[in-house]
Amino acid sequence: MSHALSQKALPKQAEALLSGRAKVTTYESTGGKTTAKFAQHNLSLIPPIPAGSIIHDNCTGSGTVSRLILQQQPDVKIYATDIDQPFLDVLSEDAARNSWPVEASNQRSEKTNFADAFFDYDITNIGVIFWTGGGADGVKEVYRTLKPGGTALINCWQSITWMLPIFLVHKQFRGDAAFPAPPVNWTDGQQLRRVILEAGFTEEKLRLERQEVQSVVPAGEFREWVEKTWAYLAGIGGWHEVDAEKWDEEVDRLAEVLKQQPGTTVEGGNVSMKASQWIAVVEK
Ligand SMILES: C[S@@+](CC[C@H](N)C(=O)[O-])C[C@H]1O[C@@H](n2cnc3c(N)ncnc32)[C@H](O)[C@@H]1O
Repeated sequence: MSHALSQKALPKQAEALLSGRAKVTTYESTGGKTTAKFAQHNLSLIPPIPAGSIIHDNCTGSGTVSRLILQQQPDVKIYATDIDQPFLDVLSEDAARNSWPVEASNQRSEKTNFADAFFDYDITNIGVIFWTGGGADGVKEVYRTLKPGGTALINCWQSITWMLPIFLVHKQFRGDAAFPAPPVNWTDGQQLRRVILEAGFTEEKLRLERQEVQSVVPAGEFREWVEKTWAYLAGIGGWHEVDAEKWDEEVDRLAEVLKQQPGTTVEGGNVSMKASQWIAVVEK
């Protein structure tokens, strides 16, 4: 392909799906459905959260973890942090409207303003992969701010059916430069284990498990799901001139490749795609 590969502004097709609040809806109707399944499962791995607990919903997004906790235990105090303000705004408004005990603030996980030994729980649902130092800098902060005896839940992707198709469409339309994936490989769970132990947690109090979920997109909604997923993920590392020019072709090709993946099944028009996580449950 001879298309220019220079970094470009957001294509208008992606802009419509990613500007302000639209970004939150786009995330929640695609990858967010899967991360919510992970969060639900992970909360079931620990005993019920006692009343009065102080909780860090770390890398909260728009509060998926906070919302799940409040369904089972409303008598808690949750500090929800993230660096993406539109997501925090959605959570803050919902918290105010429903009088939830949730305080949302814009803070980097690697350096927060919380005191040492402040939290009973730190729950980071698909956040560690974004932290500096290959995750280590944020996990150290989790350790510092957790009370002795407190529990952390930290998970990372193991595999996602839609990532390889995104790399393939990237290569087909944008040329040979590698898709800028995270420099660290999280797929075997060993990076997660390593950064947790390096932060000061001990092997005896660490439980590391794998879990698989299905992301099911109902018949008739698949093209829209694919377009939103392309908009959300294809711009990692920048957009290219060809993206605006050939947007529909890219999305159609992604849909086609996705349906051919070993992790995908199509039944009655419903498209089911596999995603899996490594989850660490660890006590300080
Ligand atoms: C995959 S989303 C997960 C959101 C939410 N926990 C959920 O379950 O849907 C990752 C979130 O981490 C946030 N994030 C990435 N790097 C961060 C950092 N260094 N400090 C705080 N938040 C960060 C992003 O803004 C994004 O909202």
